[in-house]
Amino acid sequence: MNGAITLRPALPRDAHAIAALARDHVEAGLPPKYDAAKILRAMRQRDTVVLVAAEGSAVRGFAVMEFGEERAHLVLLAVSPGHRRRGIGRRLLEWLLESARTAGIASVHLELRAGNAAARRFYRALGFSETILVPGYYGGREAALRMIRVLRAPGAALPAWQPPWLAQK
Ligand SMILES: CC(C)(COP(=O)(O)OP(=O)(O)OC[C@H]1O[C@@H](n2cnc3c(N)ncnc32)[C@H](O)[C@@H]1OP(=O)(O)O)[C@@H](O)C(=O)NCCC(=O)NCCS
Repeated sequence: MNGAITLRPALPRDAHAIAALARDHVEAGLPPKYDAAKILRAMRQRDTVVLVAAEGSAVRGFAVMEFGEERAHLVLLAVSPGHRRRGIGRRLLEWLLESARTAGIASVHLELRAGNAAARRFYRALGFSETILVPGYYGGREAALRMIRVLRAPGAALPAWQPPWLAQK
């Protein structure tokens, strides 16, 4: 039976579950790059968000995004096979897109394996557009497809923001 899914920042105890999802469902058949130690390092980076979708104590999905000045890079995203098409991937990505918008990010970029038709459809459904094909991107073996989601025109003025009043006037 499926329970409630909660999104939360990853904790060190999640690192092995996240690395296993990355190894089995993102990097399958490629030399692994993201082991638990690398995921733990990503969690400690100030410019990186590692987000998990948890059901009780089980990690059902996760996403890693690096935030720059105006660009953000979605590094990894995966949902456990038995829990796909429950809207978990959408929730993870929408949470990150909303954070990026709030942070003033102009565009979100990602690469995926060109043959990953399901993920292409997923990202298109989330408003991403395909840009270029990069042959041999994955270890010289496989092409990557780059995709982008524009959040605002680069260089455009950010909406004015005022800190909330702490005391009644
Ligand atoms: C791509 C992935 C993250 C999608 O996660 P998910 O939780 O199943 O996606 P959601 O349920 O939020 O789907 C949102 C929408 O994306 C589209 N979509 C998702 N999976 C799809 C599929 N297999 N085929 C067609 N469209 C799909 C649909 O429009 C879907 O909306 P709907 O279910 O109302 O039709 C998941 O399939 C996955 O982990 N794949 C392996 C890892 C991977 O490819 N990661 C991305 C590249 S790094």
